[in-house]
Amino acid sequence: MRTIREDAAAGVGAGVWRAPGRVNVIGEHTDYNDGFVLPIALPHAARATVRARQDGVLSLYSEQGQGPAVELDVRTLTPGGVDGWARYPAAVVWALREAGYPVGGADVHIDSDVPTGAGLSSSAAIECVVAAAFNDLHGLGLDRPELARLAQYAENAFVGVPCGIMDQMASVCARRGAALFLDTRDLSSRHVPFDIESAGLRLLVIDTRMKHDLADGEYAKLRAACARGCGLLGLPSLRDLDPRDLPAALARLPRDLVPLVRHVVSENTRVEQAVALLDAGEPRALGPVLTAGHLSLRDDYGVSCSATDLAVDAAVEAGALGARMTGGGFGGSVLALVDTGTALTVAGAVKRAFRRAGRRIPRIFAASASAGARRIT
Ligand code: GLA
Repeated sequence: MRTIREDAAAGVGAGVWRAPGRVNVIGEHTDYNDGFVLPIALPHAARATVRARQDGVLSLYSEQGQGPAVELDVRTLTPGGVDGWARYPAAVVWALREAGYPVGGADVHIDSDVPTGAGLSSSAAIECVVAAAFNDLHGLGLDRPELARLAQYAENAFVGVPCGIMDQMASVCARRGAALFLDTRDLSSRHVPFDIESAGLRLLVIDTRMKHDLADGEYAKLRAACARGCGLLGLPSLRDLDPRDLPAALARLPRDLVPLVRHVVSENTRVEQAVALLDAGEPRALGPVLTAGHLSLRDDYGVSCSATDLAVDAAVEAGALGARMTGGGFGGSVLALVDTGTALTVAGAVKRAFRRAGRRIPRIFAASASAGARRIT
C-alpha cells in the first residue's frame, strides 16, 4: 500500500495544503462587534497531507501532538466529544457534514510551525488547512469567505469557543505583501499594501511565552458584555455607534461597560487611520497608532497582562516606533514596529527586560505579510 505522502505526490484523492497563522496589526476585539480588523498572515503555517478514505474513519495525526493518530468515525462526531488539538480538524469535518456536504473519512497528517498558545492563531490555521483540503478533495466549490465562516462555525459550535471571524479570514484570504482590511459585518475586504520591508521597517513578533487560551472564559465574558452594551444602547452592534455620538452613549451606560464600549469605538477608528496611512505609503506613521491601541486594550478593555505590558514598554523604550499586544489577550504576543537598523537592539532590550524581571525569555522573530491558505501539491 502506498503511504499518504506517496498518494499526495501522485495527486490521486490526496494532496498537501497549507494555511498560515496570523498577527493582527490593529483592530482587536472588534470582529465580534461587526467592526474592522487589519491582520496579516504569518510565514508560519499548518501543513496538512490529506487522503480521502471510503470507510468513514477520520484518522488524525499531528507531528507536534504526543502519541499516535486519533481515529474517529465521521458519522458519530459530536460537539465536545473530542479533546486536544484533534478537536480542530474534527470540528471542521463535523461542520461540513452539518452543512450538508457529504464528506467522508480521511487520513489527515498535520505538521505546523505556528507557535501554539502564543495568540498567533495556530488553531485557526489547522481549521483552515483542513477546510481547504476537504473543499478541494471533494470539489465542494466553497469560496474563501465561506471556508472561513465554516471554520469559525466549527470552532464556535464544536470546540465551544465563541471566537470572531478574523483569524479564519486572515488564514484563508491574506495575500503576500498585504494586510487584509476586513469589514467583519459583511466580510467585504481589501488588500492594503504592507511591504514594510521596502520602507526600511520590520514588524517584530514577541511571543511572551505567557500562555494565551481563549477557551478559559474571559473572552466569552467580554463578548457578552459588548452584547449587553448594544442592547442597552438599542444598537444592532457596537459598530453602529458613531464616534461623534460616543460621549452621549457612554453617559447612558453602566460604569462597567463604559471602557469596553470606548475601546471598541476608538479601535475601529484606529483601523481606519492605519489603513489611510498604509494607502498613503506612510507605514512609519503606524507606530503611534499601534501604541495607542495597546493603551486602549490595557486601560479600557483590560485584556493586557504584565508580560505583554513589559514587552511593549521595553520595545518602545528601546526605540520601537510603536508596539501593542496582538490577538485576544491575557498573554500571547506583542507586535513592535521598528526601523530595520534597530531590530536587534529592540529585541535585545526586550529579552533583557524579561531576564531582569525573572521571566522566561520571549521568542522574537520578524514577520512579513504572507499568503493565505493554498494547495501545495
Ligand atoms: C481572538 C479571536 C478573534 C478576535 C481576537 C481579538 O483571536 O479568535 O476572533 O476576536 O481574539 O481581536
